[in-house]
Amino acid sequence: MKKHIIPIILLGYFGLLFLLLIGLETYWYLYEKPQSQPIAFSHQIHVLKMTLPCDLCHMYATKSISAGIPSVSKCMDCHRAIATDKPEIKKILKYWQNRKPIPWVRIHSLPDFVYFSHKRHLKMGIDCSECHGDVKAMATIRKVRSLKMGWCITCHKSRSAPTDCLTCHK
Ligand code: HEC
Ligand code: HEC
Ligand code: HEC
Ligand code: HEC
Ligand code: HEC
Repeated sequence: MKKHIIPIILLGYFGLLFLLLIGLETYWYLYEKPQSQPIAFSHQIHVLKMTLPCDLCHMYATKSISAGIPSVSKCMDCHRAIATDKPEIKKILKYWQNRKPIPWVRIHSLPDFVYFSHKRHLKMGIDCSECHGDVKAMATIRKVRSLKMGWCITCHKSRSAPTDCLTCHK
């Protein structure tokens, strides 16, 4: 009898470890899984290859609370003439002709009861990448920070920014 106890304990131990790993793996997968978008827009092509600046498209980041998502006309500035034979570009043209905005799926979003301002953070010289990761390397945008309260507060503490509740909950 006693001889079997040790293998069973070992099996149980490694079994649990295995399940834990699977769990973590799934968590990371879901967490970082890119969302599919109505048009396969790639930051890699536009930012890394073409070196377009972020604020060409996210025009309000340094001026306002929101960074802003570019309108169809911004895409048409170039795609009236560039890669017009590609299916993804034909889709853009269709939105343009129908005067419809592209229904981009929002990736980063805070609950309504939280106050956050892009302008305020960018003025402090914080780079987009600290909160959004290496966007230029992403063919599809994904979230790389939790955007949870603990994350905000950790940085606030390290930079002596305010941490009282009313700073973010007005
Ligand atoms: C040519 C236009 C263009 C440029 C340049 C550009 N973006 Fe974007 N960006 C978009 C579009 C369109 C979307 C929405 C589609 C998507 O999520 O991929 C977007 C989405 C995003 C999002 C996700 C928004 C959300 O829903 O949460 C982030 C973050 C972002 N961009 C950051 C950047 C940063 C940082 C740079 C510069 C390194 C940059 N972008 C440059 C067009 C652009
Ligand atoms: C400053 C010019 C410029 C702007 C603005 C621009 N693009 Fe592009 N885009 C390009 C160039 C150049 C390419 C590469 C074309 C190629 O490889 O043939 C490209 C490629 C693409 C592709 C890949 C096409 C394919 O299938 O090969 C998509 C999709 C795309 N752009 C979507 C968009 C969207 C959506 C917007 C607006 C948010 C946008 N672009 C704004 C210049 C631009
Ligand atoms: C201090 C962290 C931080 C920095 C720095 C930052 N962002 Fe954001 N960004 C966020 C958070 C948090 C959200 C979600 C905001 C919300 O839901 O109210 C967001 C949302 C966005 C969105 C989608 C919604 C919107 O605001 O229009 C875009 C696009 C975006 N950021 C682009 C950028 C760009 C481009 C830069 C650099 C110029 C940048 N961000 C710098 C934290 C940051
Ligand atoms: C990478 C560091 C960093 C992160 C991450 C960050 N912040 Fe900040 N935040 C700062 C700094 C630095 C300041 C101080 C700015 C100033 O003094 O003008 C600040 C200021 C603020 C202010 C204005 C404070 C005031 O004086 O009224 C608000 C509101 C705020 N942050 C909300 C948030 C929220 C919400 C998040 C998370 C979603 C967040 N921040 C994430 C660095 C950060
Ligand atoms: C620097 C910004 C910041 C400060 C300071 C801050 N919070 Fe938050 N808080 C957030 C963000 C972002 C969220 C939403 C994300 C989340 O649930 O973590 C949040 C969410 C919450 C929630 C909802 C949690 C849930 O699970 O739905 C409560 C309650 C809360 N905060 C209370 C507080 C209290 C109490 C204080 C002061 C001791 C405080 N917060 C200070 C940013 C902040």
